Amino acid sequence: MSHGNRFLTRRDALKLGLAAGAGMALGPRALFAQSASAELLSKPIPSSGERIPLIGIGTARRYDVATSEEELAPLREVLRNFPGLGGKLVDTAPSYGNAETVVGNLLAELGNRDQIFLATKVGAGRQGRAAGIAEMEGSLTRLQTDHFDLLEIHNLSGTADMLPVLREWKQEGRIRYYGITTTSKNQYEELAGFMRTEPLDFIQVDYAIDNRSAEDLLLPLAQERGIAVLTALPFGRGRVFEAFGDTALPEWATELGIETWAQFALKFNVSHPAITAAIPGTARPEYLYDNFNASRGVLPDAATRQRMAELVANA
Ligand SMILES: NC(=O)c1ccc[n+]([C@@H]2O[C@H](COP(=O)([O-])OP(=O)(O)OC[C@H]3O[C@@H](n4cnc5c(N)ncnc54)[C@H](OP(=O)(O)O)[C@@H]3O)[C@@H](O)[C@H]2O)c1
Repeated sequence: MSHGNRFLTRRDALKLGLAAGAGMALGPRALFAQSASAELLSKPIPSSGERIPLIGIGTARRYDVATSEEELAPLREVLRNFPGLGGKLVDTAPSYGNAETVVGNLLAELGNRDQIFLATKVGAGRQGRAAGIAEMEGSLTRLQTDHFDLLEIHNLSGTADMLPVLREWKQEGRIRYYGITTTSKNQYEELAGFMRTEPLDFIQVDYAIDNRSAEDLLLPLAQERGIAVLTALPFGRGRVFEAFGDTALPEWATELGIETWAQFALKFNVSHPAITAAIPGTARPEYLYDNFNASRGVLPDAATRQRMAELVANA
């Protein structure tokens, strides 16, 4: 089957062994032009049923910029175009240098805060409850908002002190969802303990096609406990591109509507049944279109995921 820009029918998709119910697939080039009509894939947040698109935006490192127009221009274009494509989730943190301020200023300037599912974190709870609360108040100011759509305890910093605060803020409507993050394997057991005892809405964990440790404990537990999962570092901070960026995609992958290694990595990522959305670092408009296209079309099924993982493992 040629890939091209034509529509892939649902029957074609089933013949290819793709996940049923995921919708129609388009070539990514066509999606540029037809994104408004192509079906956008989303998954529900288990604790509420609210659906969010599979691909969000991560703001670590690249949104930690000064305020020169040269640095801000591509970030503004990303945040301007994201909601128009159907995107919602933007993830940041007070520990990402100037990122919260940059995101807050740009959303205020663009006037599209209401279209964004805004997620940030609190890490200062490691110095106690008061320090954690002060950081959260600061995040509201920097982000120029009166509520967080998601607030997560960053890398289990002061979790016992901060969970009661997050529960209170959620009751008061200043937090819509709360959770805990880690990107350290030596914290997985500790995170699992909180997942078993606390009614978390979300966890955020590192997961990539060449970094699948979360599959052993955290992802099955999230499914069992009805906790949404965001995946941090879905490209391993660019490691995926260093390993495969110059290699041609296999034909069976292009037949799935995958045109780039970014989409290959992201479609693998978000097709895990436990995963709600991925937050690739996205600081250029061309990355936005590329990455966001992974939230359209069809998702690989279990057999195709296996094939994708084997390709990467044997590279
Ligand atoms: N909870 C935690 O403790 C934690 C820790 C780390 C990260 N995170 C979250 O995870 C997010 C992602 O992390 P990350 O940005 O460090 O790593 P990443 O998403 O794994 O990789 C980002 C890198 O991939 C490149 N890239 C992005 N889209 C591309 C595309 N379409 N084609 C080619 N290259 C592309 C970027 O290149 P350039 O260098 O050109 O920009 C960037 O260097 C963070 O923003 C943050 O929200 C959370």
